Amino acid sequence: MKSFQISIVGTGYVGLSTAVGFASKGYCVIASTHDHEKAALINKAILPFFEPGLQKPFENAVKKGYLTCVLDREEAIMKTNVTFISVGTPSRPDGGIDLRFIKQSAQEIGMALKKKKGYHLVVVKSTVIPGTTENVVMPEIEKHSERRCGIDFGLCMNPEFLRQGNALHDTLHPDRIIIGEYDKKSGDVVEELYRNFYGKKLPPMIRTSLVNAELIKYVNNAFLAAKISFINSVANICEGISGADVLTIRKGIGLDKRIGPLFLNAGLGYGGSCFPKDVKALIAYSKALGYDSSLLNTIENVNKIQPYRAVELAKSLLHDLKGKRIAVLGLAFKPNTDDMREAVSLKIINRLLEEGAYVTAYDPIATSNAKKILGNRIEYASSAIECLKGADCCILVTEWDEFGKLVPEDFVENMRQPCLVDGRRIYDPEKFSKKIEFRAVGLSHP
Ligand code: UDX
Repeated sequence: MKSFQISIVGTGYVGLSTAVGFASKGYCVIASTHDHEKAALINKAILPFFEPGLQKPFENAVKKGYLTCVLDREEAIMKTNVTFISVGTPSRPDGGIDLRFIKQSAQEIGMALKKKKGYHLVVVKSTVIPGTTENVVMPEIEKHSERRCGIDFGLCMNPEFLRQGNALHDTLHPDRIIIGEYDKKSGDVVEELYRNFYGKKLPPMIRTSLVNAELIKYVNNAFLAAKISFINSVANICEGISGADVLTIRKGIGLDKRIGPLFLNAGLGYGGSCFPKDVKALIAYSKALGYDSSLLNTIENVNKIQPYRAVELAKSLLHDLKGKRIAVLGLAFKPNTDDMREAVSLKIINRLLEEGAYVTAYDPIATSNAKKILGNRIEYASSAIECLKGADCCILVTEWDEFGKLVPEDFVENMRQPCLVDGRRIYDPEKFSKKIEFRAVGLSHP
C-alpha cells in the first residue's frame, strides 16, 4: 500500500493523464467530475477523449481498481490525502482567464476538508495566473473548511507541461518538476510524493514560491509560442528571397547550442488549448500590471495572420479562388489528436469560403469534431485520396504521418489541377515541384 492516496479534481487531458500516470505505478487514484456521462465512461474504462498511448494503461488502471471516478468530491477527498486540482481555466473575452471552476473546486475541497480529520495536501495543477493559488484557492478552502493553510492543510502549485498526443509519455518523463509551495511542509510532501513516484529517474526539481510556479508555466508556453512566431516570420521573409528555404535556416541556427533545433518548425501558426489561451492571458495579466508587452502582442499578432499564408500561397498558384475546389488535408490543431480548439484549419477554411472557393476536407480522426463547428459549409472526404479528387488546389494543414506518404502521382492522378501548398513542410520540394505546381511555407517561390 502506497503512503499517498491521490484524488484528482477534473478529468480533462491533464487530470486523466496525471491520474493514469500515478495509477500505472500502483497508486490508488480517485478522479472526480460533475459530468455523469464522463464518470460513467471512465468507470467503464472508456477514455473520454482521443489520446494515443493512454487507452491501454488507462484500461489497466481502471480494471485493476487503481483508478476510479466519482461524482462526489467529498468522497474523493475523504478517501485520499493529496488532491490535485486540474480543472479548466478557459479564456474570457478580454483574454484573461475564467477562474470559475478553480473557485468552485476550492470551495468543494474546503467543504470536504471541514469534515475530514488529519493533514491534507492540495496541489493546483491547472494553469492559473500568478497569485491565484494564494489569493483565490487558499481563502476559498480556508473559508469553507474553517481550517488554516499551513497547519491543517498544505498547498502547492505544480504546473503541468504535457503535450496532447504525448500525454502519458510527458507525464512519466517530464524535463523537470516545478513545486511552488505555500510553506516548507507542503513542498516536502509533494517532493516526497514525486521522489516515491520517479524513484531513480527523478527529473530535476525546482522548489519555489507559489507565484513563481504559476508564472513559470505561462513563461514556458509564451517562450515556445515566441519560437514558433519567430520562425514563421523568418519563413515569410524566406518566401521572398530567391533560393531561400526556412528548413535550411532552421538547421543552421538550430545547431547553435544556444538556440537548439526544437520548436522551430515553420508552418501555419500554433493552435490548441494552451498556447493561444496562455499567451493571451499573459498579455492581459501584464497589461493589468501596467505593462503592455509589445513582444507578447507581436507573438500573438504574428500567429493571428500566419494561417492566411496558406490562402495567399494557393492564390499565387490559382490567382482567383472563386469557384475553385480546394482540398484541405488535416483539420486537427496538430497531428495525433482530434482536438479542434484554435485549429488553424478553421481560419483557413473560413477565408477560402469568403473567397468563394468550395472546400473538401479530410482528417484521420478530427472530422466529427470539425463537423460540429463547420457543419455543411464544406464537404468531408473519407480518405486523403478522395479529398484530392477533382480539386484545383490542395492545402496541407496538419502534418499527419499518412499525408507524408502521398507521392506526386497521387496529386497528378486525382486532382483537376495538381497544385499543392505544403503548410507544414512535409514534402520534398525538389521531388514535388518536378511533377506538380508546388508552394510551401518558408520556401522561395517565383
Ligand atoms: C503545449 C505545450 O507544448 C505543453 O508543454 C503545454 O503543457 C500545453 O501546450 P500542446 O498544445 O499539446 O502542448 O501541443 P504542442 O505540440 O506544443 O503544439 C502546439 C501548437 O504549436 C500546434 O498547433 C503545433 O502545430 C504548433 N507548433 C509546434 C508549430 O507550429 N511549430 C513547432 O515547432 C511546434
